[in-house]
Amino acid sequence: MSEKNTWREVDQYFVDRLIPEDSAMQKILKSNEEAGLPGIDVSAAQGKLLHLLVKIKAAKNVLEIGTLGGYSSIWMAKALPEGGHLTTLEFNPKHAEVASKNMSEAGVIDKISLRTGPALKTLPTLREESPFDFIFIDADKNNNARYLEEILKLSTSGTTIVVDNVVREGRVLDVEGNDPDIQGIRDMFDLLHQHPRLESTALQTVGSKGYDGIVLSIVK
Ligand SMILES: C[S@@+](CC[C@H](N)C(=O)[O-])C[C@H]1O[C@@H](n2cnc3c(N)ncnc32)[C@H](O)[C@@H]1O
Repeated sequence: MSEKNTWREVDQYFVDRLIPEDSAMQKILKSNEEAGLPGIDVSAAQGKLLHLLVKIKAAKNVLEIGTLGGYSSIWMAKALPEGGHLTTLEFNPKHAEVASKNMSEAGVIDKISLRTGPALKTLPTLREESPFDFIFIDADKNNNARYLEEILKLSTSGTTIVVDNVVREGRVLDVEGNDPDIQGIRDMFDLLHQHPRLESTALQTVGSKGYDGIVLSIVK
């Protein structure tokens, strides 16, 4: 079996053993596919990780950059306590429309504000909704450093930040290339390096989404 097939099958084993009640979530992925959205949502295991992190943090006010069809948003919204809220930012109106339908069907639409438009324009308008206590960044990677700078203005001590896709099959090491996404990820790591307000680590991951990784950061 190829390495990638093993990663996929092990992920499926985890889903069978640990996330079996997942049929509603699978329906969301199906509706995304039927609407022609790209299959670049987090995996079920990663969605459950976000769900658990929101619970561990006891987060009440969550911010997400990059909604797509709402799969990760719904995982996190389902972890919120009574009165908890999630704000999610999406550039593409079609993605936002599909996400809104999925959120309604999942019964979490009342907990979510979905804001359509370029995140760098929306973020400065969120001061009144801040501080957020958990933030997930999963949009256009070239803007990662700028997103970090903006969300720091919407954070407080203890705000927990997760950034997805920071390894890109090892291409994060590609200093010579001119891929703006890789440059954006490297700019983010440069910003995180000895940042006075952030304590961070990064983890490499394999699974149904291939070889990638996340950054985990906490605001001091
Ligand atoms: C990787 S997908 C998000 C996946 C989603 N978090 C999930 O796991 O279900 C990235 C999304 O970010 C959106 N996006 C790209 N550039 C953006 C921008 N400048 N502002 C807001 N959203 C953007 C894309 O349209 C896409 O829907």
